[in-house]
Amino acid sequence: MVSERNIRILGISGSPRKKATDYAVSHALEYASENYSASVEYFSAKGKTINFCIHCDYCIRKKEGCVFKDDLTDLYDKMIWADAWIIGTPVYQGNVSGQTKVIIDRCRAVVARNPKVFRNKVGIGVSNGGDRTGGQEPALKTIHDFYIINEMIPIGGGAFGANLGGTFWSKDKGKEGIENDEVGMKSLYRTIDRMIEVSRTLIDC
Ligand SMILES: Cc1cc2nc3c(=O)[nH]c(=O)nc-3n(C[C@H](O)[C@H](O)[C@H](O)COP(=O)(O)O)c2cc1C
Repeated sequence: MVSERNIRILGISGSPRKKATDYAVSHALEYASENYSASVEYFSAKGKTINFCIHCDYCIRKKEGCVFKDDLTDLYDKMIWADAWIIGTPVYQGNVSGQTKVIIDRCRAVVARNPKVFRNKVGIGVSNGGDRTGGQEPALKTIHDFYIINEMIPIGGGAFGANLGGTFWSKDKGKEGIENDEVGMKSLYRTIDRMIEVSRTLIDC
């Protein structure tokens, strides 16, 4: 049976700014929507109130979501809605930003309510650093580990260019750095193409 709906993609930027990561993730969503008619949703960490997980176990005991009713509440709904996720992060100290880490930690509340909630959703990572090799791949691996732990399917873009996902060298120039990184752009497009291919197989559309 072939589904009649479009693939639903959620893009998350784990940067506290609307600069490099914001541009990379928004551009990825634009690409997926223009080339594959995907339905898209976007969340940026900029200006958002996002509390750290405090390990109070409210989510485990109550199974009613997180004790914090902050700006992640709406994101939880989008996470459930999406067939595929793009998590974008700037590299901080060789790994994901604190904002990105808190967003993924806080997913415990969604999974506590329904352990299979993210099962078989497809996930990719997009990282960017001021240095050419500043920790983009460790950051992607952190994102992939999150996908694996939550029974999602992590996707890369394939060998010779997009191995673990979208990787950019921003040169600390924000949007301009991303736009001018041709190699990074190729890694992004290839990863999105593969994400769509796998998602289509999974949801039959
Ligand atoms: C606290 C902090 C730590 C950083 N650590 C690294 C790093 O380890 N490696 C790197 O390549 N860039 C590092 N950067 C630079 C950012 O990754 C880079 O400027 C990125 O493009 C910022 O993305 P944004 O414009 O979306 O915020 C760091 C920046 C900050 C603020």
